[in-house]
Amino acid sequence: MVAIFTKMEEKNKAKICYSWSYMPKRWGHSLHPMCSYLAMFPPGVPRYFIEQFTEIGDVILDPFSGRGTAPLEACIAGRVGIGVDLNPLAYLLTSAKLSSPTLEKVLLRIEELRKEYVRPSLSDVPEEIEMLYDREITLPQLVYIKNKFKDWKNDISDVDRFILASLMGIMHGKFNKSGTSYLSISMPNTFSMSPNYVKKFIETNGLTKPRVDVFDQIRGKVLKLYKNNRPATKGYAYLDNAKNFSQISNEHIINKNIKMVFTSPPYLKVVNYGTFNWIRLWLLGEDIKLIDKNLKLDDNHSLTGYVDFMATIIQQCEEVLTDSGVACFVIGDVAKPGKEPLKLAEYVWEQVKERTNLNLFGIVEDHLPSKDKVTRIWGKTQGNATKIDRILVLYKGSKPDLKYSLRSKSVLKQYTY
Ligand SMILES: C[S@@+](CC[C@H](N)C(=O)[O-])C[C@H]1O[C@@H](n2cnc3c(N)ncnc32)[C@H](O)[C@@H]1O
Repeated sequence: MVAIFTKMEEKNKAKICYSWSYMPKRWGHSLHPMCSYLAMFPPGVPRYFIEQFTEIGDVILDPFSGRGTAPLEACIAGRVGIGVDLNPLAYLLTSAKLSSPTLEKVLLRIEELRKEYVRPSLSDVPEEIEMLYDREITLPQLVYIKNKFKDWKNDISDVDRFILASLMGIMHGKFNKSGTSYLSISMPNTFSMSPNYVKKFIETNGLTKPRVDVFDQIRGKVLKLYKNNRPATKGYAYLDNAKNFSQISNEHIINKNIKMVFTSPPYLKVVNYGTFNWIRLWLLGEDIKLIDKNLKLDDNHSLTGYVDFMATIIQQCEEVLTDSGVACFVIGDVAKPGKEPLKLAEYVWEQVKERTNLNLFGIVEDHLPSKDKVTRIWGKTQGNATKIDRILVLYKGSKPDLKYSLRSKSVLKQYTY
């Protein structure tokens, strides 16, 4: 992975390897892999910018938090992380990571749930869910948890939220030889294939449903998540529209006390977050079509619409940032078949710069190897995402200094888990 600070280093044309390039493949705190999420970024990327531009105690906000990578990384680094997302699954994952209870409390509660378990009726379970799970043990336990936490968005403790979020991570996935830690028939973990596709897949491959105990598997998952110490600080998560994030009733937002916005906004026409998560969202009692409709508004823009959308987001950043605060946007290049890829980050800045008082610090190029990019799993239908992510770095007021040389590995030396 090579990164080039294109604008800043233009004069000497230097190619600069960023510190995240040296990170081991699965680098990161054990809470990050709670549940895979489409279009997530590796934790080393926000961490690099957090170390570079902020101090302990500073507040860092991600208005498109997804599974919570940036705000979690902020809390791990002793900053305060805030995550906002309109997708209930993203909100659940972010909020669970930002307010993790003690391991002891979580384990005790899992045992309590196990003891209180009463087999529920399966009459409301849709056929496409039934085909995935064993009817004797696994499915009734899942329905029990679904019913137990049905009001999770309004009324849930930190402990129960953490359990529900951990369950999201094991709802479906591939068998492994040492027995499965996933609950479904063998299928990808990252996203849910369409019900019709799964049905045919089961028939063609003669797949059987594993009979696994949900409580045991959640316990196993939780133990893995707590391999590292809990983050140094707690953060805040909101189920809200990023377009109005500066209006959220949070003390740091109200006081315009945000030192950094670090985010990866939805790209042009790439992901249907509802449809691709229909199994997890069933358990959360969510209306998949509604999620796609709400998110589609921002995932399905024309180029002009996208620029307007980004202008709104950048204006919100301008409102909440402190002096010398930084806003970083990870934006992938976009390819149309037979056409030159569009450098969307550069394009956005060219179009938006007259509409904001934020200034350009630089644009980083991040060449992701294609095998590491989640969208590879879609093969030919992977939409318009390409291998190059660019990070548009803007600042407010006085220009911030770089703390570390761009060639330095010192940022990384400070933390190992
Ligand atoms: C590229 S993903 C972010 C992934 C995240 N960086 C991570 O590591 O998990 C973009 C996110 O934007 C969210 N989103 C799209 N439109 C939104 C909106 N108007 N308001 C808030 N979130 C939105 C999607 O639900 C999705 O989680």
